[in-house]
Amino acid sequence: MAYTLPTLPYATNALEPTIDTMTMEIHHGRHHKAYVDNVNKALEGQPALAGKPIETLLREISQVPEAIRQAVINNGGGHANHSMFWEVMAGGVGGDPSGPLADDIKATFTDFATFKAQIKDAGVKRFGSGWAWLVLADGKLKILSSANQDSPYMNGQAPIMGVDVWEHAYYLKYQNKRPDYLDAWWSVVNWKAVADRYAKAKAGNL
Ligand SMILES: [Fe+2]
Repeated sequence: MAYTLPTLPYATNALEPTIDTMTMEIHHGRHHKAYVDNVNKALEGQPALAGKPIETLLREISQVPEAIRQAVINNGGGHANHSMFWEVMAGGVGGDPSGPLADDIKATFTDFATFKAQIKDAGVKRFGSGWAWLVLADGKLKILSSANQDSPYMNGQAPIMGVDVWEHAYYLKYQNKRPDYLDAWWSVVNWKAVADRYAKAKAGNL
């Protein structure tokens, strides 16, 4: 079955003023849609692969024929990454997390300010296009970045939360000021959704 573009869980203006409406419309309606269309195109004639959940397809990327593997990495990764991205944001949220996620972030990264600084650093230092991530790797929280649309799933890691640092994610409002975008981004992080993903990852269901 073909992959489909998920509906945004909020209106395109819901993340204003942190992420402007036009960026959301183009990012979801054109960029994410193109990833979905192109992974479907790459998997034409491969019903066994196209029937897998996108996360499974990426986890098992070595089983994808070499001729289409990079197209699946780019576009299947783009589909999975953006689906996660919409999920971990919302309007009228922000603040700091609480509960087991917050406890484990503090235990791993010292405190919440250090955690945020490390995510920002990962995003700022990613040269060109990519993502900064909080992942669960071998049962531990870890911050890293990936190039292009490379997905943590391909390395056996579960993406708890990630921030898109492609220019298409911020350029209309922030132009070349990626650090400012990364600072502002925290005000639209939906910690409830992130905590849900963390619980699922720990249970092996993400
Ligand atoms: Fe993006």
